[in-house]
Amino acid sequence: MVKINNNYLKLPGSYLFSTIAKKVSTYTEENPDKKLIRLGIGDVTQPIAPAIIEALHGAVEEMGNGETFHGYAPDLGYGFLRELIAKEDYGSRDCPISADEIFVSDGAKSDCGNIQEIFDENCKIAVCDPVYPVYVDSNVMAGRTGEYDEKTGKWSNVIYMPCTAENNFIPKLPEEVPDLIYLCVPNNPTGTTLTRDQLKIWVDYANENGAVILYDAAYEAYISQEDVPHSIFEIKGAETCAIEFRSFSKNAGFTGVRLGFTVVPKALVREEVSLHSLWARRHGTKFNGAPYVIQKAGAAVYSTEGKAQLKEQVTYYMRNAEVIYNGLMEAGCQVYGGVNAPYIWLKVPQGMTSWEFFDCLLQEAGVVGTPGSGFGPSGEGYFRLTAFGTYENTVEAIERMKKCLPSLYK
Ligand code: MLT
Repeated sequence: MVKINNNYLKLPGSYLFSTIAKKVSTYTEENPDKKLIRLGIGDVTQPIAPAIIEALHGAVEEMGNGETFHGYAPDLGYGFLRELIAKEDYGSRDCPISADEIFVSDGAKSDCGNIQEIFDENCKIAVCDPVYPVYVDSNVMAGRTGEYDEKTGKWSNVIYMPCTAENNFIPKLPEEVPDLIYLCVPNNPTGTTLTRDQLKIWVDYANENGAVILYDAAYEAYISQEDVPHSIFEIKGAETCAIEFRSFSKNAGFTGVRLGFTVVPKALVREEVSLHSLWARRHGTKFNGAPYVIQKAGAAVYSTEGKAQLKEQVTYYMRNAEVIYNGLMEAGCQVYGGVNAPYIWLKVPQGMTSWEFFDCLLQEAGVVGTPGSGFGPSGEGYFRLTAFGTYENTVEAIERMKKCLPSLYK
């Protein structure tokens, strides 16, 4: 009889956002006439920018013509897109990254989840707590996390780096040295960033200890402060200790289009093996390349019109962030984030758990958010709202919350 991968049985019954979706669907069945406002999952609401739509149409036309048709894409990505990424995202910031160190994929989530495959099963991982649940869950599936303790909400083999209001949501270097360090900056869910000096500490630490930093920069387009780097490769020495993940979902609205990329520098070597070669082997074996049409759309992100239109979208979402931030402050909440990230992180009223607050907000205000505990044990007592809604819905959600929250925070 076949044996299954038992590690899957250790996972919570469903992925965080699927659990929320189930609760929401029960609510809508029970309250068919109530308008629900969804500020839970960080899914964009603005349509794809015109410059990108034009590129998509052009590429679709090409696919219908024998002369310009494209079959399998190169598994690491088309040169036209890799060159653009190297120039626009890295060259422009003096990062020592070339086009052949960029691996185009169908999005950062897959790469963040899959990258652990190129590392030993006994690698010790460290994660910020709270953080995007994919990092821990994908390592649970690989059997790297040990056992789950219901009481603490922790996996026995994972090094948790608490990020709470007490330390300004900035992780401290762990006492026990990890092999893999996941950093998500700007952070999902807290919205916190690291300055150049703060990030340099991590780069030096990883180089000194032979660790590898898995740096998720999916939200870099939302950085507004000067001393916050957009890429870890802006930090000297990162090319020998870091892998970076980028997404087109949040900066260009590609959540339903799917495109991302991962940077594995050639200088990144462990046990005398190039991690670039390992990831290329993995990518070439298990992935047939992001579609041509979508990569053409990705290239349009870097056109003059594309850049201008996307800047407007980021500004649109950050205006929502301001509405949420200011509204919640007025309602008497302790609020964080929203400056370099499209997420607002707030403290839930004393005596309530994150899930209790979720239920309360759903019932009282018809607003969906994300319970902090879904992002890790230190997220308990916090709650996340996304700025990716429409402006009108965001304003309405905050108005509703301002009516019901003050009594809870008394
Ligand atoms: C989130 O809400 O945390 C993100 O949208 C999830 C994702 O990017 O996969």
